[in-house]
Amino acid sequence: MVKKYVYGRPFETYAVVNAENVSDAAESEKREFFREADMKKALEPYGGITWDEPEDWNDAPAMQYRVRMSDGDVVYGLGENVRGINKRGWVYESKCSDDPNHTESKRSLYGAHNFIIIADADNPAASKGLFIDYPGRVIFDIGYLDKNELVITVCSGNFTAYVVSPAMDGADGSDNHLYSIVRQFRHIIGKSYVPPRWAFGYQQCRWSYMSADEICDVVDNYRRRNIPIDAVYLDIDYMERYKDFTVNKETFPDFADFVRKMREKHIHLVPIIDAGVKIEDGYGTYEEGIKNGYFCKEADGEDFVAGVWPGRVHFPDVLNEDARRWFGHGYKVLLDAGIDGFWNDMNEPAIFYSEKHLKEVFDKIDDYKGKNLDIQSFFEFKGMVEGVANNLGDYERFYHRATQPDGEVVVRHDHVHNLYGFNMTRAASESFKELAPDKDILMFSRASYIGMHRYGGIWTGDNHAWWSHILLSLKMLPSLNMCGFMYVGSDVGGFNDNTTEELLMRWMGLAVFVPLMRNHAAAGTRYQELYRFTDTDTFKNIVTMRYALTPYLWEAYRRAVEQDTLMYRPLGFEHPEDKVAVATEDQLYVGEDIMICPVYTQNAVGRYVYLPEPMTMVRMKSADEYELEKYEAGHYFVEIPAQEIVFFIRDGHRIPLYKSAEYTEAVFGNECEWIGE
Ligand code: GLC
Repeated sequence: MVKKYVYGRPFETYAVVNAENVSDAAESEKREFFREADMKKALEPYGGITWDEPEDWNDAPAMQYRVRMSDGDVVYGLGENVRGINKRGWVYESKCSDDPNHTESKRSLYGAHNFIIIADADNPAASKGLFIDYPGRVIFDIGYLDKNELVITVCSGNFTAYVVSPAMDGADGSDNHLYSIVRQFRHIIGKSYVPPRWAFGYQQCRWSYMSADEICDVVDNYRRRNIPIDAVYLDIDYMERYKDFTVNKETFPDFADFVRKMREKHIHLVPIIDAGVKIEDGYGTYEEGIKNGYFCKEADGEDFVAGVWPGRVHFPDVLNEDARRWFGHGYKVLLDAGIDGFWNDMNEPAIFYSEKHLKEVFDKIDDYKGKNLDIQSFFEFKGMVEGVANNLGDYERFYHRATQPDGEVVVRHDHVHNLYGFNMTRAASESFKELAPDKDILMFSRASYIGMHRYGGIWTGDNHAWWSHILLSLKMLPSLNMCGFMYVGSDVGGFNDNTTEELLMRWMGLAVFVPLMRNHAAAGTRYQELYRFTDTDTFKNIVTMRYALTPYLWEAYRRAVEQDTLMYRPLGFEHPEDKVAVATEDQLYVGEDIMICPVYTQNAVGRYVYLPEPMTMVRMKSADEYELEKYEAGHYFVEIPAQEIVFFIRDGHRIPLYKSAEYTEAVFGNECEWIGE
């Protein structure tokens, strides 16, 4: 059962699309559920969260929800975020952020996924799901100020809360309360995006592939060593001076021919598209945007100027239907060249600086010149300079002419901030339907809000070559699935900092089971293509094992989408009464049949594994060489060399193991054998 609590006049986010069975809460219930809050007082303990008095269309008082949690209650959800699968013990803030330091101390990453499940330990039937449909800031204090209290603060009085209760009669076919909540929630937000099958192949990316020749060289290196691969990415350097929908003609002469030649080798090229449109006379996209008034504006009607890769840019107003359609049609030039995959980036949107704020900072710097900078003034100065990028004040400087069901509304960006990446991706995806209805196109984004899951996947942004980030990426998988995001993955090997052969190998050991298996690194870091290391054979082996398992993963993915359920299942979902299973956060069920237990520590010879049920261990040594061993439920230390992939099949289940191939599509035509009982 899903009940809707409408407060004030909410902005239509288009997160919920199937509301036919959603009932409205009575006024008295609404008053009980969320209470008016004095925002200044409510936000003070969290520090650093500002709150503006609302504006005309948005003038209801802010609201707060409080509930006590007993010790065993678990809070799941929040999609892309830091910390555990159980979100208890920290405070999270929904605010799409361009922040490349994914440390425990953070409260937000690139996505804003306001859905949680409160799993009631004492009375499972009283468990509930809660979705706060509000595109501005929402604070989820999940046992931070008080370890047994959940406090949700919505920085506006205009929002909709959806409360999902388990279907007690099992009418929806769910096996337990938690799955029932997920299924009902996923139903109301609509079916998740399904990518083309090749997007389940291994993919290579790097920021700083400078030319077609360099990319050919990468592909040749993979093919020569028979390491399967399906896609290579074009990061910002393929463009002409970082201008969207252009290609640098000097470094990529005859682009369409290049795309075609790559396709002959079964390689898909996937270019990046950035949110900011370069301000440059003579550049078509810029000139069209100006002519039609399609860019976000400041209060005085001037187009807002921010700085990103190309320097000065404008942001397309993707919340406006006409502007969205126009921006979406920009992808045509690349589609026409044969491209069938894109990644949308910097769409929080990331702002290195705004022209106006930068000027204020420069003026201030003049004041500091020649002064004795003491403890106070030095840190003030430092904070000011460091605060130039992604400055919160800048998000209050520009406006959208957002299309709403009853017409256009002018809305200040910070009130709808979390919808930008969603609508940029929607722009692309809607135009694909129009421009290339027969093409199956890969699409994923960095920033997102629930609802975007219908249009594309996400990657989890600029992580580091840190061991802890293998585990963090694993923990995000089920949380993302709960929020509808199914085509997901992290930068394998780590984006920032220098990777090592062992780290990359272990990361690959997890990525074998993740839909988006993309190796990506930042410019200036150590090269981390799989052939750059000593033990290339092992990397080849790991990738071929992935290809052998791809049809299983593909089916698990498809089924999870069709049934509105999880592909990645926390052990606590399968065994809610088993306290150890509930607390195990470094293993996952993948689909209905297998459980994975990747190694995520340096110099490990194996790891402890908890089996909540009897299972068969599969020790894969290569795509067609494996051993099976039966285990009873219990705790074990399992030796797992980095060269092997170890996972478990549930009793009574079987999975197909295909003959591997050079590229994904070919695998599906191969023969397979079934392993397990
Ligand atoms: C951002 C993206 C990263 C990309 C870089 C250059 O940092 O998150 O993936 O490589 O921009 O485009």
